[in-house]
Amino acid sequence: MRILLVTGKGGVGKTTVAAATAAHAASRGLRTIVVSTDPAHSLSDAFDAPISDSVTVLGPRLFAQQLDARLRFEQAWSEIREYFVQVLGWAGADSIEAEELAVIPGLDEVFALADLKAHATNPDYDLIVVDCAPTAETIRLLSLPDVMSWYMDKAFGPSRRIAKISRPVISRISKLPIASDNFFSAIERFYSRIDGVREVLTDGSNCSARLVVNAERMVVAEARRTFTYLSLFGYHVDAVVANKLLPESVSDEFFASWRQSQSTQLEQIETAFSPLPILHAELARSEVIGLESLGEFGSSLYGALDPASRLADIQPMHLESAGEKTVLSVHLPFSERAEIELARVDQELLVAVGPHRRSVALPDSLRGSEVASARLIDGRLHLEFTRVGDNR
Ligand SMILES: Nc1ncnc2c1ncn2[C@@H]1O[C@H](COP(=O)(O)OP(=O)(O)O)[C@@H](O)[C@H]1O
Ligand SMILES: [Mg+2]
Repeated sequence: MRILLVTGKGGVGKTTVAAATAAHAASRGLRTIVVSTDPAHSLSDAFDAPISDSVTVLGPRLFAQQLDARLRFEQAWSEIREYFVQVLGWAGADSIEAEELAVIPGLDEVFALADLKAHATNPDYDLIVVDCAPTAETIRLLSLPDVMSWYMDKAFGPSRRIAKISRPVISRISKLPIASDNFFSAIERFYSRIDGVREVLTDGSNCSARLVVNAERMVVAEARRTFTYLSLFGYHVDAVVANKLLPESVSDEFFASWRQSQSTQLEQIETAFSPLPILHAELARSEVIGLESLGEFGSSLYGALDPASRLADIQPMHLESAGEKTVLSVHLPFSERAEIELARVDQELLVAVGPHRRSVALPDSLRGSEVASARLIDGRLHLEFTRVGDNR
């Protein structure tokens, strides 16, 4: 079973690339499902066919589903919500406010993960292609399994027992509504649905993320940050898709400076994502719509490559934290004996080792940190960061 996460900034062509990858993979014989977690569902627009919240058949070996996270949220959280509404009411919110406040932002997306987990263990599929929401939401979604397990351990581990013991006491003192056992069993049921999702998604042999970009400054900047955060959470990015490139045949003077800036940005893409393969897709004459066009788009995008395979098996960037120390390791092949030069501009780290240059968008968690040491080990540069300036 393979899972491909297709992500990128809004409008770059995520849905198109996800749909095209799925159509192409199905035509090569893989039983493929393409699933959209973006609330702005456009899979059905791309395929020009109705696609619902349940699995829809699009063609031989090709299935699609537009997850309605909202709906699932409402179903599974009705019991839990009741409790929140009671608590909020107790805290003085009127009933309409309480209803509104009980909707925890982002929590509905967890259900998308639960469905992915269900598909991932379904023997009827060889490949799951996920058309993700724009990057910010996707990063939050992909970090959720971590956050959730932390929350479950902290909030519902030992303290669950405490809550039970202290229930009569609290009720007497404050009249704070106390969660019923229904609440806890609903939480547990819910949690068991996403437990293990992280392991599936961060196992590089199961799951790859593909970043779709356009050769435009702002898009590339965002993609680089996404790349960093995906690496931070342990996800494996295995390719970058540079989409909507101006075709050679466009010679109109009007596009001259566009062409110039696209080639500059393509170079940026190479420096920022090397050694990942960069797949190129030209701007088509019109929108890429329908199974046939998508299949052709996918076929020309991947060429001789197997769309479902792991397109890069090295981790270009890896971040690991231990206490106050964070070690960032960057793949820099053929650089054993060269001198390392580092330059940092705000949250951007420029690394030059001999003729090889890499630029890395540092995560916010390293904002107050400085590079304490740099070492080359087996073609990887290990940078150790330590926190500075905390005791102002
Ligand atoms: N290579 C391309 N050539 C022409 N149109 C494209 C190409 N890639 C995407 N599009 C069009 O651009 C628009 C946005 O693409 P879409 O895949 O929906 O982006 P996203 O999912 O990232 O928001 C759609 O109208 C789509 O048909
Ligand atoms: Mg989309």
